[in-house]
Amino acid sequence: QSLKAFNTFGVDVSAQSFITVTSTEELVALIKEVKQQETPVLPLGGGSNILFTKDFEGLVIKNEIAYINKVQEDEQHILLEVGGGYNWHEFVLHAVNNGWQGIENLSLIPGTVGASPIQNIGAYGVEIKDVFESLQAVALEDGSLHTFTKANCDFGYRNSVFKNALKGKFIISSVTFRLNKPSTYRFNTSYGAIEQTLKEKGIEKVTVKDISDAVIAIRESKLPDPKEVGNCGSFFKNPEIPQAQYDTLKAEYPAIPGYPTTEGMIKVPAGWLIEQCGWKGKQVGNVGTYPKQALVLINCGGASGEEAYALALEIKASVMEKFGVSITPEVNIL
Ligand code: EPU
Repeated sequence: QSLKAFNTFGVDVSAQSFITVTSTEELVALIKEVKQQETPVLPLGGGSNILFTKDFEGLVIKNEIAYINKVQEDEQHILLEVGGGYNWHEFVLHAVNNGWQGIENLSLIPGTVGASPIQNIGAYGVEIKDVFESLQAVALEDGSLHTFTKANCDFGYRNSVFKNALKGKFIISSVTFRLNKPSTYRFNTSYGAIEQTLKEKGIEKVTVKDISDAVIAIRESKLPDPKEVGNCGSFFKNPEIPQAQYDTLKAEYPAIPGYPTTEGMIKVPAGWLIEQCGWKGKQVGNVGTYPKQALVLINCGGASGEEAYALALEIKASVMEKFGVSITPEVNIL
């Protein structure tokens, strides 16, 4: 089975076998069955944060568990349990259209609801952990069902327990979110481009939809649409460096942007570092970086995953050489 249509970078690799599941019961039954055959399993959502460098010798399980259940509702909040295979942006639109606030800044992020906690997806000042209540996951070891609270997930910047200690051990079958009703709205318009867009439109009394629309416009203006240009979003994470190292760099490169994070650490945009190394819009073979956002690697047509990974390593090395800063992939490389 070719995986070309199932990864947004558009790499043409194949899987030994491929099965789609549409309910938790089906998923549990499947895991129990494959357990006996000791087949390697790869859970797949939207395929938007993965780079295949070779064929997968095992079973790909595509999560298409897609439902929305209202768990609880009062004057202030609504709790929604959403199937792991639900398209992320469609879920955002559902919330926006109902006036439920909390994920509008995360509009237009590719991928699925089930993948969203794994890397604690984030954009424009909001992360999934801000609205996360709990999740349900199936253990690949024996098909048992487990509930994870926010504390269990150990969320960090583009990080969670599912990228560390529990990597490859669970498939997320559903996620429960706590969203705000009008009396508890807490808009986040701190990101410059959002403020700018709202101002240009002359919007004074902001709605959930205004923010979603602004985010959609911003993303469309600087990020490639995976349907048109193969890509997997930001390829690297933004590195955090100690204040002293930042100060030294700032003396040599006065324009270097930086945002304080935890005590004494500064987050530097990897896109800036990569652009300064001359990579922005550059093409090498069939891969390159997006001309409007150097942090995004793109498939210029017929690229292989190995080719993309080789370019990523070259970019990483040049950022290290010029700035002494190590950048690490955000994308899962397989
Ligand atoms: N920049 C450059 N050159 C570039 C790209 C960026 O100089 O080619 C500079 C910009 O001028 C700006 C700064 O870098 O000052 C930040 O750029 P941007 O606002 O585009 O955000 P980012 O840090 O590159 C992060 C996330 C994105 C998210 C945006 C908006 C990571 C790894 N990426 O990108 O998330 O949409 O912020 O919040 O944290 C993703 O994870 O796949 C993703 C797209």
